[in-house]
Amino acid sequence: MNLYLAPLHGFTDATFRNAYYRYFEGIDLAVAPFISLTHGEKITRVKVKDLAANVNQLKPVIPQILGNESQHFILLCKYLHEQLGFQEVNWNLGCPINSIVRKKRGSGILPHPGMIDKLLNEIVPAIPLKLSVKLRLGFYNTNEFPPVANVLNSYPLSSVTIHPRLGIQQYEGSVMLDALEEVLPLIRHKVIYNGDIHQYRDFVAVNKRFPQFDDFMLGRGVFINPFLPEQIKTGSHALPADSMMRFKTFYRDLENVEKHSRRLWMSKMKEYWKYFGIFLKIPEATMVQVLRCESPDEWNRLISIILDLGEAPSQFNG
Ligand SMILES: Cc1cc2nc3c(=O)[nH]c(=O)nc-3n(C[C@H](O)[C@H](O)[C@H](O)COP(=O)(O)O)c2cc1C
Repeated sequence: MNLYLAPLHGFTDATFRNAYYRYFEGIDLAVAPFISLTHGEKITRVKVKDLAANVNQLKPVIPQILGNESQHFILLCKYLHEQLGFQEVNWNLGCPINSIVRKKRGSGILPHPGMIDKLLNEIVPAIPLKLSVKLRLGFYNTNEFPPVANVLNSYPLSSVTIHPRLGIQQYEGSVMLDALEEVLPLIRHKVIYNGDIHQYRDFVAVNKRFPQFDDFMLGRGVFINPFLPEQIKTGSHALPADSMMRFKTFYRDLENVEKHSRRLWMSKMKEYWKYFGIFLKIPEATMVQVLRCESPDEWNRLISIILDLGEAPSQFNG
């Protein structure tokens, strides 16, 4: 089984990936947060800095592209292959952000299978690397999926990652496992499952219902419980005895790097704490203090208290 780290824009960049891999086991490879084609032909160093070889030495990473411009897509693929040595790229057909879907990008392209077909027809023969896609069950409804599956089946994709929600759901509601079960036989490619595996018991449930999945992609679960990939790989929901110490050292490492490389490091850390707070079961009043904190001194005091008092639960219930 391969466990993929999901692309989470603003979360799973190389800084996080490296800090995470140093302290936790279980993830085999990552799909990087998307690179947008909105800047057209211009491929800047900043745009691909997350993918540079020197920041991706610990585990393999697959770049992801968001957009619907075949010529720009092809140019970027060539750059990723020729300049950075990548062998695979992932196409984002799942992003639900309004400003993106309005332009028929991300999950906004799912109601238009003809457009997906035209793009793949132009892109696939022209790129020197393998192509995989990551998508939802549709944008407005799951009836959009069968024609999309038909199109995908006629191209040599290396995998199809399915997050069984609709674009209009954004990240709300629950994953649609009944609908997934219905449409799964339509896909002839290898399918990777993604969505709402946030605790070990979620993995057990999906794995039991869909024994045909070999590979899984984990996103928010890695933040809600950084030990989740290890639990999945070892088949045990018990946390290791030194879990709090490992989390603390990891967190200090991550915060240090963010502090040195980012002006607005505190707002970035607050985003992480929205999930780490769940892991450490931080009381709501303390979370409010963390999220409202503006002063670095106060921040250091608060985080030290949390990390010193914090006690990772000995296990997650089932
Ligand atoms: C803050 C955030 C950023 C995301 N960025 C991306 C992205 O860059 N590319 C992508 O394909 N999906 C992106 N996603 C979707 C996740 O990869 C994943 O499909 C989704 O969170 C469901 O999986 P999970 O429940 O394991 O988190 C993002 C999700 C969140 C919450």
